[in-house]
Amino acid sequence: MVTVCRVIALGAALAASAPLLAAQPPTAAGSHGQHGAPAAQPPADHHAHRFDNAAELAKRFDDPARDAWQLPGRVIETLALRPGQAVADIGAGTGYFSARLASSAAAPTVYAVDVEAAMVDHLTARVKREGLTTVTPVLAAADRPNLPAPVDLVLVVDTYHHIPNRVAYFTALKASLRPGGRLAIIDFRKDSPEGPPVQYRFTPEQIGAELAQAGFALAATHDFLPRQHFLIYRVQ
Ligand SMILES: C[S@@+](CC[C@H](N)C(=O)[O-])C[C@H]1O[C@@H](n2cnc3c(N)ncnc32)[C@H](O)[C@@H]1O
Repeated sequence: MVTVCRVIALGAALAASAPLLAAQPPTAAGSHGQHGAPAAQPPADHHAHRFDNAAELAKRFDDPARDAWQLPGRVIETLALRPGQAVADIGAGTGYFSARLASSAAAPTVYAVDVEAAMVDHLTARVKREGLTTVTPVLAAADRPNLPAPVDLVLVVDTYHHIPNRVAYFTALKASLRPGGRLAIIDFRKDSPEGPPVQYRFTPEQIGAELAQAGFALAATHDFLPRQHFLIYRVQ
């Protein structure tokens, strides 16, 4: 398994010069005989993919060209946050959404959560440089976000497929949601020109099946993102 994941990670590294999260053709290991491809459930996860070169990844994650398909302003408008609310941006990366959320009209408290220490260091420097006083970088474990306080919204952008043991992860996450709290998942469609290997691109039905097991119900589906699903869940 470790070897398999290293091969996947190597494939990802070789794709580093490609656009954001460029699709990689499945390697022999990456064709995932080990993971299988069940119809209703996504394959395991992509958690061995490392994101430890924050400065290099920032060139892709924060590429202004991304805005044309990521539509961050419309995403944040759709999330309709209110002043005083708190958001956990799980898998915050270099802070693409965390920074924009903090600067949005509602000015929510933002926990910018990432499992990579290098990303958290990058986020900490960005927070200081840009004066993002309402953003708190948080070092997560792979199996728990280590949130310091409950939140009104958990946002998971291009990270769902990296989280291991998702049913257990999101079951536990419910304890970090305030009453009426929401979980927003944005992740790549099967036919996106960019994204993770196709076996890690899940259908809304696959995501919904996992999150139903974790105790979440679909509250809204937004179809305006050309490359990603945008799904909102609430606790059942
Ligand atoms: C593809 S990047 C997306 C970054 C950001 N959300 C964006 O849209 O630009 C995925 C990020 O999730 C982080 N990550 C992976 N697994 C994670 C986990 N279990 N918990 C928190 N962060 C995780 C990675 O370190 C990486 O920074």
